[in-house]
Amino acid sequence: DLGVYQHYMQKEIHEQPRAVADTIEGVIDNGVDVDTLFGDSATGVFRDIDAVLVLASGTSYYAGLVAKYWIEGVAGIRTDVELGHEYRYRDSIANPRQLVVTISQSGETLDTMEALKRAKELGHGNTLSICNVRESAIPRASRLVFYTRAGMEIGVASTKAFTTQLVSLYTLALAIAKAKGKLTAEREAAELEQLRFVPGSIQHALNLEPQVQAWAERFAQKEHALFLGRGIHYPVALEGALKLKEISYIHAEAYPAGELKHGPLALVDSNMPVVVIAPNDALLEKVKSNMQEVRARGGELYVFADLDSHFTESEGVHVIRTPRYSGVLSPIAHTIPVQLLAYHTALKRGTDVDKPRNLAKSVTVE
Ligand code: M6R
Repeated sequence: DLGVYQHYMQKEIHEQPRAVADTIEGVIDNGVDVDTLFGDSATGVFRDIDAVLVLASGTSYYAGLVAKYWIEGVAGIRTDVELGHEYRYRDSIANPRQLVVTISQSGETLDTMEALKRAKELGHGNTLSICNVRESAIPRASRLVFYTRAGMEIGVASTKAFTTQLVSLYTLALAIAKAKGKLTAEREAAELEQLRFVPGSIQHALNLEPQVQAWAERFAQKEHALFLGRGIHYPVALEGALKLKEISYIHAEAYPAGELKHGPLALVDSNMPVVVIAPNDALLEKVKSNMQEVRARGGELYVFADLDSHFTESEGVHVIRTPRYSGVLSPIAHTIPVQLLAYHTALKRGTDVDKPRNLAKSVTVE
C-alpha cells in the first residue's frame, strides 16, 4: 500500500527514520549487549578475532566500505571489504581468526552466498550475516546474525536497507570493541547518545526534499554526473552515483575527491554537474581545494554541506545545507539527499523508478 506516496522508493526513503529507530531499538534500550544483539557465542567470537572481512554486492558493499572506517576506528581491528563475486574466484589467504561479515538486504544474493561458501571452504568458521529478510539463505548459513529491521523493501533501488545496514554496522563496531574490553562504560553511554540522534537527523535531511527537487530539474537534462567525497563520505558518493544511474539512466561516476587530478578532471566542463558531499569533517579543507579545481575548469558544483561547513552560494556553486555534522555517523544523514536527488531526477525523466530496466530486486543468478 503506497499511502500518500507515488512510488515504493519514495515511501521507503521516507520510512527511514522509523526503520533506523526500529533497528537500533535493542541497543538504545539495553546498551551494547553483545550476545543478545549478535547471537549467543558472539562475545567469545569477537574477543578472539584479529581481522574482519566484509563480503557483499552493490549498495550492501558500499555499507561495508563505510564499516571499514568504523571497525578500524572504534574497535581497532583491521577490516577488508570485497565484492563477493571477486572474492570467490581468487586465491586468498584464509585467516581463521578473521570474522567474515556478509551484508545483504535479501539474504539471497547469489554472489554473496557463494562468497560465504568459499570463505567457509577456506576454513573461516566465524561468520556473521547482516540481513533484512529473516531465515533467508545467507543468515541460515552463518554462525551469527544481526537482522536489520527495515521492513519489506520493494523498490529495486535499495534505500532503507542501506541506512539500517549502516546503523547495524556501527553497532557491530561497538560490539567488537566491547568484547575486546576497549569500550569503557562512559564511552558506551556517549556512543548510545549519538545513535539516539540518528533518526532525527535523517528526518531533518528528509525535510530538504523541496530543495533537492529543484536541483533534480537540472539533473534531468544531463547525461553525465560526477559524485565526489573523501574518507568516510566517499562511499556516500558511490551510493549517490549508483542510485542515479540505476533509476534515471544518467551515467554517473563517483571518485574520492583527491583522485580528481589523476584523471577524472579531464571530464569536467560546464555540462558536467559535480555533486560534492562536504560536511564539516577533518577533510573539509581538502575537499574545498578539490572543488576549486572543478570550478577552475568551468564545472558546476552541487554541494551538500552542513551548517558548520560555511559554504556560500556563488556562480556555479549551489549549496544545500544538511544536518549539522554528526560525527562518525554523518554518512547516514548524508545518504538521504543523494537518494532524493536520484528519485526526483528519475521522476522528471519519466523512468520506471521502482522497476528500472534490466534489473531485479534480488540477484539470484550469476
Ligand atoms: O539483497 P542484497 O543487499 O544482497 O543486494 C545487493 C545488490 O544487488 C543491491 O544492493 C543492488 O546494488 C541495489 N539494486 C542497489 O540499489
